[in-house]
Amino acid sequence: MGFISKGAIVFSSILVLLSATTCAIDSGDKFENKNIKSATFISEMFEVGPGKVAYKSFYDIEFPKGHVGIKSFDAELVDEKGNSVPLYEAYLHHFFAIKYHAIDRNMSKITPKDPLEGNIYIRNDGPCNTYILPHYWGLGGEARGTKSKIPDPYAVEHGNPSTIPSGYQEKWLLNIMVIDTRGTKDRKRCTECRCNHFNLPKNFYNVTSGIDGKPLGSNYKGGLFCCQDNLQCKLKKGFEAPTRKLALRYKITWVDWNQQQIPVRFYVLDSTDRVRRNGSQFIHDCQVEFTVPPNNGRKNYPPHIEKANIPMEKGGYLIYGTAHMHVGAINATLYGQDGRTLYTSKPTYGKGKEPGNEKGYVVKMSGSYPELGSIKIKDGEIVTVETRYKSGFRTGAMGHMYIYLADRLP
Ligand SMILES: *[C@@H]1O[C@H](CO)[C@@H](O)[C@H](O)[C@H]1NC(C)=O
Ligand SMILES: *[C@@H]1O[C@H](CO)[C@@H](O)[C@H](O)[C@H]1NC(C)=O
Ligand SMILES: *[C@@H]1O[C@H](CO)[C@@H](O)[C@H](O)[C@H]1NC(C)=O
Ligand SMILES: *[C@@H]1O[C@H](CO)[C@@H](O)[C@H](O)[C@H]1NC(C)=O
Repeated sequence: MGFISKGAIVFSSILVLLSATTCAIDSGDKFENKNIKSATFISEMFEVGPGKVAYKSFYDIEFPKGHVGIKSFDAELVDEKGNSVPLYEAYLHHFFAIKYHAIDRNMSKITPKDPLEGNIYIRNDGPCNTYILPHYWGLGGEARGTKSKIPDPYAVEHGNPSTIPSGYQEKWLLNIMVIDTRGTKDRKRCTECRCNHFNLPKNFYNVTSGIDGKPLGSNYKGGLFCCQDNLQCKLKKGFEAPTRKLALRYKITWVDWNQQQIPVRFYVLDSTDRVRRNGSQFIHDCQVEFTVPPNNGRKNYPPHIEKANIPMEKGGYLIYGTAHMHVGAINATLYGQDGRTLYTSKPTYGKGKEPGNEKGYVVKMSGSYPELGSIKIKDGEIVTVETRYKSGFRTGAMGHMYIYLADRLP
């Protein structure tokens, strides 16, 4: 007894690295904040095996304490030893960091059976229906290369005591989906969650409901619902490999909140959002993902365009924008109501083997930091999200624009 590996010790301590306050070298930026703090955390570990999907939520994750302004949130998959894991071994479909208010159990004497009972989930400022795409940070395979940094003096405000209801604590959860594609017959189809490549339970189509709450229907060919926790993508005959433990390593930088910070609002705009009107009310209907139809092998087939016209109740200055898309992505563009281009995000495809540059995978989505004050969305303006994919059958495609808006300039 008593044998604890070094790896286990490293992973059992949740806060792995709390670096001393770093003083950035003066870059001459007059808004630069010299008191940026930084910490790297490791999520709970989870086990995967060849072909297996891990779809998990970890509650009450480590997060900077107090009233702070979050400047960046970067994440990647690591193994038990803390090494970066390449996407072709374990595909990071997505991670979502989601905010919630949990009952402070110290103040209510009763401990409920379900510790999650009474949680109030706080969604971002995006317009999707109910609880769809609620996260404040979240990307997928492109996470290693995609910037999340908010320029000074802007930040995502967190832990403001006046916004936390009495008797509650503000907490964060991580929702992650990882597909272990070692030894699979077709890695690409596994990462697309193509249903006929998974060993699905016999009654799958009868018991599974889609995003609209209705039964999936047998013409559902692929996407999130075929990538449920513990389902397995089909393996090459005779392939064997040991299970392994993985975790999400995430680095957060932040500042203590003060009058110098300007809060930003974060929106996820989905190119599948079919906005309807009922009188003066807008009804959003985000589908989260979509299928790119087959092109029957024809060359020079036009790209698949998915477009949504989305009214922005409250506008603001665009501080930063990027996008989340999957393999096959060409670009994503946000247009203003008058047709002006607000920004475009483009993918970078990997060319090598090392983590962050895996051949054929989207390893980065470009971001846009417009010159401060140069791009403004008006209150009530209808913006258009346009995402383009190469033609050819593809399931589980996503087109999410990420934008940070602020009410004022420094
Ligand atoms: C909860 O109550 C215990 C005992 O009174 C105390 O030691 C602890 O600090 C409290 N925790 C919180 C989060 O207030
Ligand atoms: C399940 O679905 C199949 C075909 O879609 C159908 O034939 C069968 O009756 C269904 N079973 C139940 C229990 O609904
Ligand atoms: C439209 O709004 C009216 C009044 O609020 C409501 O009664 C009705 O159910 C709504 N219709 C739809 C389709 O949501
Ligand atoms: C997006 O990609 C299309 C090719 O399908 C190209 O014509 C267009 O110029 C690109 N948009 C931007 C803003 O780069």
